[in-house]
Amino acid sequence: QNEIYLQGLGGAVPPFTTDPDALEQSARDRLGPGPFWYVAGGAGSGATVRANRAAFERVQLVPRMLTNATERHLGVTVLGTELPAPVMLAPVGVQAILHPDGELATARAAAELGVPMVLSTASSHTIEEVAEASGDGPRWYQLYWPNDPGVCASLLERAKKAGYTALVVTLDTWTLAWRPHDLDQAYLPFLRGIGTAIPFSDPAFRAGLQKSPEEDMPMAILRWVQLFTGTDKSWDQLSFLREHWDGPIVLKGIQHADDARKAVEFGMDGVVVSNHGGRQVDGAVGSLDALPSIVEAVGEQVDVLFDSGIRTGADIVKALALGAKAVMVGRPFAYGLAHGGQVGVKHVLRSLLADFDLTLGLSGHRSPADLGPDALRFS
Ligand code: FNR
Repeated sequence: QNEIYLQGLGGAVPPFTTDPDALEQSARDRLGPGPFWYVAGGAGSGATVRANRAAFERVQLVPRMLTNATERHLGVTVLGTELPAPVMLAPVGVQAILHPDGELATARAAAELGVPMVLSTASSHTIEEVAEASGDGPRWYQLYWPNDPGVCASLLERAKKAGYTALVVTLDTWTLAWRPHDLDQAYLPFLRGIGTAIPFSDPAFRAGLQKSPEEDMPMAILRWVQLFTGTDKSWDQLSFLREHWDGPIVLKGIQHADDARKAVEFGMDGVVVSNHGGRQVDGAVGSLDALPSIVEAVGEQVDVLFDSGIRTGADIVKALALGAKAVMVGRPFAYGLAHGGQVGVKHVLRSLLADFDLTLGLSGHRSPADLGPDALRFS
């Protein structure tokens, strides 16, 4: 914040707005409808996207005064790792749709700030390339659980070798939802995006094809999509992932307390309370509304992370006060990427962290650990 003031004295203003609505609008102007709706769109009528935001609006902060909150510590420990702030970059697929540097730009920006990036299985750059761009930065790997165990083991092996420490298994997208905006475009931005890199580097995947992806791209893309569609999994198969992964595993897409309990029962290290940013089940509960019962069910035993709808520092304070250990942010950084690659992601992320820091302090708290439901009022 001080830096922005000081630069302003010299006549310089930030590269683009980080006001959430204006940021979305300016990304829309910049990207064109296909890529823009790939990011902004939700499932069906968009009811869940709206429910995510409405849930935040029903919870309000109740600031406290004279609490000596001028010095603050934002750090938290998540899955045994110390983070500079309770914020991570959510897995977002095929980022080359938004900027040619895609995940490489995101990885560099995240590493500059020491914020973990969660790399999507559906990335436009390979696991190894993104790891290299991350340097020493913290990194987690997100798995879309393929129905071919050989490919699954190969992806996990590569991610381990490349220094990804935690595994985020996304359960809510075993098939793509009815997404009218993407269907209107026949998923073209997405298909063109995955044609650039993702799967084709994986030896186990290539081995399962009759011709190389270079020779028969449409078949390779179809096979890739089939690999992640209609995967018929059960809770006890989580043991396969445990066998092939040494670090912590968290399940993403949890919205029901009983599923969170099952995650613990089956030996998981945490859950991400998420509805995929409203992109999967239309008419679902706002993710923040789902958070308290899950924290109550398993919050003492494992780390509960949260995403879907975080746009401001106040949103982060609210999610933490309801018991989340940390939050993941999706669309805002994707819009930053569209605006300016690495610089754009960094600008969005720094702004969000500064907003969080100030809102935490001004509402009278010195650290995430100070936050609890008594910091809130529910309307
Ligand atoms: C996603 N999300 C997602 N999740 C995942 O596990 N793997 C993925 O590849 C993707 N891809 C993806 C692409 C785009 C364009 C978006 C917007 C989202 C979901 C993501 O990780 C996260 O759950 C939501 O984005 C959180 O909601 P907000 O912050 O966008 O409201």
